[in-house]
Amino acid sequence: MKSPIILALDLTDHEKAIQVAESVKPHVWGYKINWPAILGSGKTIISEIKALGKPVIADLKLADIDNTLNLITEQVFAAGADYVIGHAFTGSEPYSQIDPKKLILVVEMSHPGAIQFIQPLTEQFCSMAKTMGVWGVIAPATRPERVSQIREWVGPDIKILSPGVGAQGGTASEVLKAGADFIIVGRTIYNSEDPSEAASKILQSL
Ligand code: XMP
Repeated sequence: MKSPIILALDLTDHEKAIQVAESVKPHVWGYKINWPAILGSGKTIISEIKALGKPVIADLKLADIDNTLNLITEQVFAAGADYVIGHAFTGSEPYSQIDPKKLILVVEMSHPGAIQFIQPLTEQFCSMAKTMGVWGVIAPATRPERVSQIREWVGPDIKILSPGVGAQGGTASEVLKAGADFIIVGRTIYNSEDPSEAASKILQSL
């Protein structure tokens, strides 16, 4: 079975980040690198993780004008990232020069506060993501019923990536059943005494 796990490598310590990434390699589909790792290790962490031979997602949660987005994405793609995560609330226009097949849009966040402003707009974000033909969208593992709804809105071709498994309360098997293609897992794996075993256990639970 192809692993649906994406490791959220939110470690600021460079040595530990590389160690954890290497140890979980047999159990994960790919890696997600967010600001903690980039600020802790520099953007070369993207190239180092890419050298492990798996897909790398740069989770920068972009939200800016087109010129700035282009300058940022050129850097992360040159460093080896395969995909970049951006917010949908900017509208599609700032993303017009970015290859949609390398773009993942946040259509609903996993934290409780997402209900306040983001959730009321999720259907429109999904419709925009479909029109843009993006590779993937982010949807909350903490609300599997919303993942099912988001699957209906984006259709079968866009990948759904779900953070919020484990530490935030979501269950891997439930969110995959609801229609997600991938689960994004951070603390439950990298804070475990044996990250490789923790990732393997999640796989066995599916
Ligand atoms: P944990 O430790 O909670 O890490 O397993 C989750 C990872 O995913 C990110 N995250 C999100 N990213 N939309 C996103 O684009 C979300 O709703 C969301 N929720 C969590 C988080 O930053 C961490 O890297």
